[in-house]
Amino acid sequence: MAKKIREQRTASKRNRYDVDEYLDEKVSLFNIRRCLRYLAKTKMGLGMALLLSILANLASLTGPLFMQRAMDEAIPNKDMGLLLTMALYLGITIIVAIALGAVRNVLVARAGAVIVHDIRFDLFSHLQKLPFSFYDSRPHGKIFVRVVPYVNSVSDALSNGIINFVIEVLNIVFIIFFMFRVSPQLASVTILGLPVLAIFIWSIKPIQRRAWQRVSNKNSNLNAYIQEAIDGVRVTQAFDRQERNSGIMSTLTNERNNEWMRAQYISNTTWVSTETISQIVFSFVYIVGVYHMHPMVSFGMLLAMGNYVWRFWQPIINLANIYNTFITAMSYLDRIFDTIAEPVKIKDAEGAVEFPFVRGHVEFKNVSFSYDGVRKVLNNVTFDGHPGESIAIVGPTGAGKTTIVNLLSRFYNVEEGQVCVDGQDIMKVTLKSLRSQMGIMLQDSYLFTGTIADNIRYGKLDASDEEIQRAAKLIGANGFIEKLPQGYQTPITERGGGISQGERQLLAFCRTLISDPRILILDEATSSIDTGTEQLVQEGIRTLMKGRTSFIIAHRLSTIRDCSRIMYVKDGQIAEAGSHDELMDKKGLYYQLYWTQHAEEVSL
Ligand SMILES: Nc1ncnc2c1ncn2[C@@H]1O[C@H](COP(=O)(O)OP(=O)(O)OP(=O)(O)O)[C@@H](O)[C@H]1O
Ligand SMILES: [Mg+2]
Repeated sequence: MAKKIREQRTASKRNRYDVDEYLDEKVSLFNIRRCLRYLAKTKMGLGMALLLSILANLASLTGPLFMQRAMDEAIPNKDMGLLLTMALYLGITIIVAIALGAVRNVLVARAGAVIVHDIRFDLFSHLQKLPFSFYDSRPHGKIFVRVVPYVNSVSDALSNGIINFVIEVLNIVFIIFFMFRVSPQLASVTILGLPVLAIFIWSIKPIQRRAWQRVSNKNSNLNAYIQEAIDGVRVTQAFDRQERNSGIMSTLTNERNNEWMRAQYISNTTWVSTETISQIVFSFVYIVGVYHMHPMVSFGMLLAMGNYVWRFWQPIINLANIYNTFITAMSYLDRIFDTIAEPVKIKDAEGAVEFPFVRGHVEFKNVSFSYDGVRKVLNNVTFDGHPGESIAIVGPTGAGKTTIVNLLSRFYNVEEGQVCVDGQDIMKVTLKSLRSQMGIMLQDSYLFTGTIADNIRYGKLDASDEEIQRAAKLIGANGFIEKLPQGYQTPITERGGGISQGERQLLAFCRTLISDPRILILDEATSSIDTGTEQLVQEGIRTLMKGRTSFIIAHRLSTIRDCSRIMYVKDGQIAEAGSHDELMDKKGLYYQLYWTQHAEEVSL
């Protein structure tokens, strides 16, 4: 409830990138417990590093004691032997502290690398399983920022941060011990400053945490926008929107900077206060030492004590800094664990069965569906597709064509009604066995960075070069591939840089053909292809359809004329179904669509 109110309160200050960014006031204990799971694997390394740090610090803390003896005993008594021994001891403690510190750094770095790997691996694996609905609802840059920079910061806080925290707390204990050894009176004066600082830090803590959370939110917005701007750079330039985009970028950067400055200001206040309190205490020790206890306080004692007092405040200042890093990391961690906790809605049901061989009998039984739980996009859709049949889905834009194939591919769960393949409800079979026998070409045929051969091989990881070439030949893509200077080894990028839209689609066909699916789904396969390539693509589609149950969504009716059945979808319902000739005889919606398109083609 409190969370909801906070969300509403901050809603007015938000921009359109502020999705899933609520500010949680408390460090979640649940999340800290989850962190411990990641630390468990590195506990040996971290434990060892901790031990080395303790030894290094103890070695370094004995230094002032040798200094004190040198000042109070060796120098007044002109004892050269003792002076050299003390100098040697001091030198040894310094070397030991440095050597142990170096080994410790290696161990911590190693542990950090393991933590980064494990958190990122879990996060990435989870992201790969998350349903389309998760990706529908947020800018992708916001997801990216969690996987890379956030994980880096968190792992650093978990490896280095935790060790340093323990070390600094122990340091304080050790230093207090050594101070009392030198002079209990002066030690008591030093410790008096501690409660003042504790009260101050405790009161500023929640403000600081919220400030850092805001910075992380604004950073994530900025990332989301930059990613979008890079992805959409072609559209930006086409519409000459560069200036306006730079304006948005500048606003988002300023928002981030303002929050950052605020957070820095708060952190700085903590630092300044700690420094001030430490300096006041430092002076007090000298004043008390020199004026009030002079006969009892030797010069060496005061020197050693000064050194310890200085060292006493250092870990406290460090702790305040560690706390700062830690709270930022905790807000990142919230985001990371939120994502890992995101439910995998599309998963195997309990007792899901394997589908060893799909014949390709597809049934929709009274299927209704809504993306947002409010507006029905499909309304009581029922049809039956027989093995080997080719079914075309046509209809106006937004009618629900893609939704039908989304449900058949189980990218979304069917909520009302049933989708069956070979008489088996697809909710009750394993996703792997279902999808491995489906060839799905979505509206946007995405290619990955790699060579042309790599992209075709995506459909079947163990495909040989010969298989790849055979698939390309069958689809009719070999012509253009062989003309490229590097042929099948031509590198392409995820945007398909270097090849045309039609060629991208031909490659996507090859990828689908090589996976040899039992059920074929093509969404808008020919929408972006010129007439010349369309001939090729149509041949490709025909090759693909052979011997499989096929669902083809195409706006160009020439592509689907030969399908054994055409379904006309309108407002989420199947308004007409039949062969091309049947529907033309019926003179209904399909007939109108056909003649409208025919007229357009003639007029071209
Ligand atoms: N991810 C989504 N979240 C919410 N609503 C959606 C989503 N995808 C589609 N819709 C809505 O569902 C309806 C049907 O969309 P669908 O993509 O199935 O249409 P379509 O027939 O494939 O259209 P087109 O021919 O333009 O591809 C549309 O009104 C659309 O706005
Ligand atoms: Mg569509």
